[in-house]
Amino acid sequence: MKLSREEAAGRVMVALDYPDAASAEALVNSLEGIPCFMKVGMQLFYAAGPGFVAGLKARGYKVFLDLKMHDIPNTVKGGANSITKLGVDVFNVHAAGGSSMMSAALEGVEEALQGDSSLNRPLVIAVTQLTSTSQAVLNEEIGIGGSVADAVVRYARLAHEAGLGGVVASPQEVQLIKAACGTSFRTITPGIRPAGADIGDQSRIMTPRQALEQGTDYMVIGRPITAAANPRQALESIIEELV
Ligand code: C5P
Repeated sequence: MKLSREEAAGRVMVALDYPDAASAEALVNSLEGIPCFMKVGMQLFYAAGPGFVAGLKARGYKVFLDLKMHDIPNTVKGGANSITKLGVDVFNVHAAGGSSMMSAALEGVEEALQGDSSLNRPLVIAVTQLTSTSQAVLNEEIGIGGSVADAVVRYARLAHEAGLGGVVASPQEVQLIKAACGTSFRTITPGIRPAGADIGDQSRIMTPRQALEQGTDYMVIGRPITAAANPRQALESIIEELV
């Protein structure tokens, strides 16, 4: 598969895992002009809040707000409503919350869009099984039988049936998910490491090129960019690998 530079940049979601707005801002400034996605997770959002997200949107970035909501349907509906009003492009909920919770998230989106037609419709995706969950933890602690891959595919089907647009998963699971839910069901994959990069605490990793070949739609990449001596150069060489 061949992508243009712009398409390749748009497939990369840079994980802004920072404790405050100033340090995240410094990284964003170093990547100025590259049309990648920015991923804001709970560490940064709980510290820097909606204002930081609004700032990214004002600078023209696509934003994935990775807050992994998991609560009763009415509460998730309200959360989804507020998130949609922030103008983010992608946000997520846990598939383990069940189909009524996932449907409620979509209702929250619809209500926000009805109230303000200038808002864009965010892609709502589900977290399947966290990649940190081992087979033993799944079976013995969480109490779900079978393999991690079985659990991931079951959650993906549930999310698909509830009307969500995709899932977060390991790049190893992309083909199984696409086979179960169709190729237009999006996959967002962390656990990406360019050849030679520090693996850190990730385990089942793939290079950006390998993940693309598996059919992944978006790849979440944090430390290989944020901890690089030259983050801009690190992102440029990842893009180079994808074109
Ligand atoms: O630094 P690194 O590339 O490992 O960052 C991966 C990002 O993807 C982090 O923000 C992490 O929270 C997120 N993530 C993950 N595994 C999941 C879900 C999200 O690594 N299953």
